[in-house]
Amino acid sequence: MYTFKELQEIVEQNIKSLALDKNPKGLYEPIKYILSIGGKRIRPVLVLAAYNLYKNNIEDIIRSALALEVFHNFTLLHDDIMDNADIRRNRPTVHKKWSENTAILSGDAMMIEAYKLIAQTNPQYLSAVLNIFNQTALEVCEGQQYDMDFETRLDVSEAEYLEMIRLKTSVLIAGSLQIGAILADAPDEDIQNIYEFGVNLGLAFQLQDDYLDSFGDVAVFGKKIGNDILSNKKTFLLINALRTSDKDTHNQLITLIENQDFNPQEKINAVLKIYKKTKADHLLKEKMAFYYEKATSALNNLSIVPDKTKILRDFAEKMMNREK
Ligand code: IPE
Ligand code: IPE
Ligand code: MG
Ligand code: MG
Ligand code: MG
Repeated sequence: MYTFKELQEIVEQNIKSLALDKNPKGLYEPIKYILSIGGKRIRPVLVLAAYNLYKNNIEDIIRSALALEVFHNFTLLHDDIMDNADIRRNRPTVHKKWSENTAILSGDAMMIEAYKLIAQTNPQYLSAVLNIFNQTALEVCEGQQYDMDFETRLDVSEAEYLEMIRLKTSVLIAGSLQIGAILADAPDEDIQNIYEFGVNLGLAFQLQDDYLDSFGDVAVFGKKIGNDILSNKKTFLLINALRTSDKDTHNQLITLIENQDFNPQEKINAVLKIYKKTKADHLLKEKMAFYYEKATSALNNLSIVPDKTKILRDFAEKMMNREK
């Protein structure tokens, strides 16, 4: 079996070999840029890792795995416009380095490149894989719409938040694992449990993303700290700070959210202080632990020898403690 690191290396090499030296440069340079400045590559690695639980010849499915990474990076181009984000992976975002129009069109082209890669799936599995890919892609859009809708609402519940992150983040992680398992002819029940692992891990993953957006180290995280606060994103932190704060703190938080002309750093500092005071950060970590447990217990039900699930268990643990 391959290690996670080996799979990451294989994905990295294959991304380098994607044929993107095409014209017009204005369309393809940004695609090469976003794909070349790093990223953890977790989605394609999870395709390969799930497959590798059952089969060894991972080179047979590499194009399908790459589709997930190209699709993910496409969503980032559009997400960074929507979130007004200037920095990703410690580098300027595509819409900042080029323009919003460039990020829109290069993003569109990346989605089509992703479909070209998925189309290279072994015909025997193409229909099943394409169905998952399509459903997942639409769910990501649905999640992204909720994420934006919630920016202007103050009454978003924790349940609504969890459904929003399931859609915008979890399903792509779960879908990657599911595609790997399908390509490996895994038993139906295993496919279900592997998806279950992915959905719950994806929820923990997005919770940690929210945490790092507030409390991360900018140099390691590679994204601007406090961007969610400035966009009034209804993150787990904000929802719980609103829910649990005393009257004065609650009013202060509402004022911070509604005030249009604030000093950005002052707003970030004030909100962070309230997160600490209300222990929203502790609640978030508890919630993460809950989903981590749910994720890893889904692996107990797999038909394969328990030893083989170690790669996914190690990965889950790593994601819990990630700083970037
Ligand atoms: C960023 O995903 C978008 C989220 C779902 C939080 P990653 O954290 O996987 O980003 P990269 O690809 O490693 O940069
Ligand atoms: C990520 O949500 C969801 C998608 C990109 C589809 P975020 O907006 O939190 O991701 P980052 O923090 O910008 O990477
Ligand atoms: Mg976003
Ligand atoms: Mg974003
Ligand atoms: Mg984020």
